[in-house]
Amino acid sequence: MARETGVVLALATRLAREAGAIQKSRYETDFATSTKSQPVDLVTEVDHACEAHLVAALARERPADAVLAEEGGGHDRTGALWRWVIDPLDGTTNYAHGYPRFAVSIGVECKGEPALGVVYDPLLDELYHALAGGGAFRNGRAIRVSAEATLGRSLLATGFAYDKAVNDDDNVAEFRAALKTAREVRRDGSAALDLCYVASGRFEGYWEFQLKAWDVAAGALIVAEAGGRVSDARGGGDFRSGRQIVATNGRIHDALLDLLARARQG
Ligand code: IPD
Ligand code: CA
Ligand code: CA
Repeated sequence: MARETGVVLALATRLAREAGAIQKSRYETDFATSTKSQPVDLVTEVDHACEAHLVAALARERPADAVLAEEGGGHDRTGALWRWVIDPLDGTTNYAHGYPRFAVSIGVECKGEPALGVVYDPLLDELYHALAGGGAFRNGRAIRVSAEATLGRSLLATGFAYDKAVNDDDNVAEFRAALKTAREVRRDGSAALDLCYVASGRFEGYWEFQLKAWDVAAGALIVAEAGGRVSDARGGGDFRSGRQIVATNGRIHDALLDLLARARQG
């Protein structure tokens, strides 16, 4: 591992744990909640507190780096070698309802390419990380996608965009098709953890539409480094924006792509 990559990974890990500690300490307490793009699109005081902590630490420790952060606290730096892509609290609806599935997600790019990713679930104390070309890990132990090759024996996960009430392109047809075909389908409310669960073999596959770069920056690399396959809905490489992402153990990938395409065609 190049020396600077090691330094960046150590910092990303430390910061993910620190933001996770904020989430854990305020979990199921009284915090203010407001809405964003839609009445169901929530943001809490804790999302903002986590982002402020991460952005301030990066301004101190990595002033030359660019930062893209969900709640808008980041800053572009033209020509920056490193860019941090941060979801300070992935799973805000869960967090607001006291449902224990949420995480901090930190992806870091070097020269525009994914270099490393860290996702931390503070309640389970599970820290996932991956380095490009260096494998994927949970709490320091290597993880691997599942070996299941049949959709009918697969546990899948998905999610629905916040504009579902007003947009007919709502993933419901795809969800129905998957539900009828797979062993089961979960909607667990944290894209970053859904991806880590594919990486560690808990889910065989996951797909979602209309995500953002910060939802997938860390998790997509973690899946790929755990031996899985990540693509857009056509099987191509256009998934880093989050607009479409399909992530699987590889073995069920083509079958899942096919199922989603057929469901979309109606
Ligand atoms: C959301 C979660 C959810 C997914 C949504 C995301 P947020 O992120 O990852 O699982 O279905 O589309 O926006 O708003 O909790 O950071
Ligand atoms: Ca998110
Ligand atoms: Ca978020």
